[in-house]
Amino acid sequence: MAIDAQKLVQHATRARERAYAPYSRYRVGAAVLTTDGTIITGCNVENAVYPLGLCAERVAIFKAVSEGYRNFQAIAIVTENGGSPCGSCRQVMHEFAPGMTVFIADGQGNIRRTSVPELLPDSFGAGDLKRNTALHRGNAGEGLGDG
Ligand code: THU
Repeated sequence: MAIDAQKLVQHATRARERAYAPYSRYRVGAAVLTTDGTIITGCNVENAVYPLGLCAERVAIFKAVSEGYRNFQAIAIVTENGGSPCGSCRQVMHEFAPGMTVFIADGQGNIRRTSVPELLPDSFGAGDLKRNTALHRGNAGEGLGDG
């Protein structure tokens, strides 16, 4: 079934209203759509100790995973200016759903459709942790082969 981008963006927009962003004042909402049609939302949650804050996308994905969902069809991200997801969130998207559709929306309702590989080309993933990759073999004898 086709993904209802507008509906997913609506959920992310509502989540954005719950953003806790007193420091940056940059409010972000996200909504992930699981393969069984469940929608789980997130907003950014900041902290007086700045680095402890978490992005909306990761809140949504981690909430979903902690509820037992690991298969996602899409994520919608809403900000006032249609900002693109940060690198850390792209990596987390890649971990769980490299094939999902990404909708990036702004406060006026404009929606841009993209994908995880487009946002994170030449990515690092679980496969790269396997030993004996071509690169590994290629470097054997140069001190990196047996590490
Ligand atoms: N933020 C997100 O929630 N998602 C992103 O992809 C980019 C940034 C949040 C983090 C912080 O609370 C605020 O936006 C400003 O960086």
